Formats: sequence, C-alpha cells, structure tokens
Amino acid sequence: MTEVGVRQLEAGDLECLAALERCQARPWSRCQLEAALNDEHGCVLGAEVAGELVGHAVVARLSFEAELQAMLVAPAMRRRGLAAALLGAVLKQCRRWGSERLLLEVRVGNEAAIHLYRRAGFGEDGRRRGYYPPLDEVADASREDAILMSRRL
Ligand SMILES: CC(C)(COP(=O)(O)OP(=O)(O)OC[C@H]1O[C@@H](n2cnc3c(N)ncnc32)[C@H](O)[C@@H]1OP(=O)(O)O)[C@@H](O)C(=O)NCCC(=O)NCCS
Repeated sequence: MTEVGVRQLEAGDLECLAALERCQARPWSRCQLEAALNDEHGCVLGAEVAGELVGHAVVARLSFEAELQAMLVAPAMRRRGLAAALLGAVLKQCRRWGSERLLLEVRVGNEAAIHLYRRAGFGEDGRRRGYYPPLDEVADASREDAILMSRRL
C-alpha cells in the first residue's frame, strides 16, 4: 500500500482541492468546496502522498448521524488503498462526534465505490429512482438511480 497521510483540510487548501475535483466529470464548484471547508457542522479530510493532495472526503455532521457527501481519489492514484484510508479516518471522525450511523448515496453504476463501501461494512437501505443526472451529456442518456447505504458506527 502507498504511504499516505490523512489530515483535516482547511480554508488554505481550497486551490489544491479545487484542482483535484476537476479530475471528475461533475466537479463540485469552488463555492461548494469553500463552504464545505468552512462548515462547522462537518469536515473535509484530505489524503496526501509525498505532500501532494491526491484524495478527499467530505462528511457532514447531522443530529444523530453523519453523511458522507463526497469521496474522490485522483485517477492515477487509484487501487492503492487511499479511499480505504480516507474512509477509515471518516469513521474515526464520526465516532468522535458521537454519530450513530454513517449514511451515503452512490450511483447504481458506480461499481468501484459500491465495492469500496460494501468492503467497509456498509449495507444497502434502499434506492431513489432517477436521482442523479446522466454523467454523459448525450441527448438520450437517462437519469441514474441512487443506492442509499449506511453502516453503524
Ligand atoms: C471510488 C474511489 C474513491 C475508490 O478509490 P481508491 O483509492 O481506488 O480505492 P481503494 O484503493 O482504497 O480500494 C479499496 C477497495 O474498494 C474496492 N474498489 C476500489 N476500486 C475498485 C474498482 N475499480 N473495482 C472494484 N472494486 C474497487 C476494492 O474492494 C478495494 O479493495 P482491493 O483493492 O483490496 O480490492 C475512486 O475510484 C474514485 O475516486 N472514483 C471517482 C469518484 C467516486 O466515484 N466517488 C464515490 C462517490 S459515492
């Protein structure tokens, strides 16, 4: 496994975070990322390899639960255990908050993420039909279902 450091990101990490987000089809906007970094009811964790930000997770603290709102690893750094390390740090943070469960939503076609979450102990709670807009901008592409998953903390 690659040597990885995980830490809580701060306002000063916005540029690196925005650059990392741009590697995916539907990136969060700078504004959304800035709000997540400054949100006192949540946190953004970053995974660094050799001092470079290569992955992040956004988690929000709810009343009794917590919600994983985003998880991303740079394409060139995938399958090295970075998302698993980030998820481990997310679970620790949620336990520090005293959250009872960690919730998330994932596209039904996102096999990599579904495998990751199942391996980390998440189970399926239900589905939301047509929740996500199509990833491809092709005219006849249809919306995609969301799988709702959670695990006890
Ligand atoms: C999903 C994602 C975060 C996984 O990151 P990663 O660093 O490659 O994942 P890890 O190396 O930590 O993998 C941990 C486990 O997840 C599963 N997994 C990860 N990628 C997988 C893939 N492409 N196919 C099947 N299983 C996969 C495996 O069980 C893996 O364990 P293993 O390598 O020992 O078999 C990454 O592919 C990504 O950033 N995708 C785009 C953004 C995204 O979909 N985010 C999730 C939104 S809900």
